Amino acid sequence: MSLHSDLYHEDDLVWVDRNYLVPLLEALRHVAAVADLRAGITEVQTWIAAQPQQPALDVAVPEDFICSRSYLLAECAQILGARTLERGLHYLERLLKSLTEIATSPINDLNLNRWKEYEDILTDSLWMIDRRDSSGVHTAGYWGNFIPQIPYQMLRRYTKRGDWVLDTFAGSGTTLIEGQRLGRHTLGIELQPRMVAHAKQLVAAEPNKHQVVVDVVQGDSATLNYADLLAAYNQTSVQLVMMHPPYYDIIKFSEDERDLSNAASIERFLALMGQVIEQAAQVLEQGRYLVIVIGDKYAKGDWIPLGFQTMQEALKRGFALKSIIVKNFEATSGKRQQKELWRYRALVGGFYIFKHEYIFLLRKQ
Ligand SMILES: C[S@@+](CC[C@H](N)C(=O)[O-])C[C@H]1O[C@@H](n2cnc3c(N)ncnc32)[C@H](O)[C@@H]1O
Repeated sequence: MSLHSDLYHEDDLVWVDRNYLVPLLEALRHVAAVADLRAGITEVQTWIAAQPQQPALDVAVPEDFICSRSYLLAECAQILGARTLERGLHYLERLLKSLTEIATSPINDLNLNRWKEYEDILTDSLWMIDRRDSSGVHTAGYWGNFIPQIPYQMLRRYTKRGDWVLDTFAGSGTTLIEGQRLGRHTLGIELQPRMVAHAKQLVAAEPNKHQVVVDVVQGDSATLNYADLLAAYNQTSVQLVMMHPPYYDIIKFSEDERDLSNAASIERFLALMGQVIEQAAQVLEQGRYLVIVIGDKYAKGDWIPLGFQTMQEALKRGFALKSIIVKNFEATSGKRQQKELWRYRALVGGFYIFKHEYIFLLRKQ
């Protein structure tokens, strides 16, 4: 396993020869005075600043040699700022540890000895994301698709390379694309044949540099046999389930009566969601996570807490609630033109316009 693991803030990557840097730092363990430590670290700082930038992750260089320049410089600055030799040596040991030892958890590849480098990983429960990731084949073209940052964050924190991910409402394949990029085998279920074809097309247009299995099947996720689906790929379980169902009838996705957006009532919608959750629970590995992305809705002027009602369906089936993330929600361009009108209506009617949705993080016990 490489030390580089899963670090992905590309602008700041620098090519560092650890065979040179580590002995240089190790030699400073034996300095007699804080002034000597500072002199040595100043030299290291100059060396780091002079190292060439790493242009892209898929360039054929050993990953062990890629680091975040700003992280390394900040660590050096902290050593330089230490008032006592003892404190400075403590920071030096921490830097050495980050360069030589890996500490990961059983559910992801984040190297906790280099946690400061993961600036892109969100840890707050409020997500204000201004712009969707539109890199590669990602587009906002499918009305109702989620921003790629959602599966990106979940895959980085709750899966390891080579794990299997299942998305029960695959749509345009956003989770599949992220899975392929991050080296996670990813399967999707989607009711509409045209979206299955579309998702397959998008996935095929992106390089599969980690050689993972990424596929989407046409089917009804409330009734499909998940064990059979996995058996087709010689698997019996998955390590993460992503669910981004219709928000009941807010967007009608198809004419198919099995489509959850065509459920006869909210009660029926929730019963079907319960069925999908139950199915997924059967193949989700114990201790692993189910992510449900959903928003609320209005019905006849009343706020319907669809998100919490859906969450209850998971809790009723034994999942433990680990986090509720509230994410900002931007109107599509069509709706944006009506923004003023909605604001007027909200003022007249005394209600609030939806600007958020939920990401429920649930753990299989
Ligand atoms: C909110 S969208 C998911 C969008 C997806 N996250 C993306 O980024 O493209 C919900 C999807 O669920 C699909 N769907 C609805 N009912 C379904 C069912 N019973 N089984 C499988 N898919 C279903 C719809 O066709 C729609 O594409």
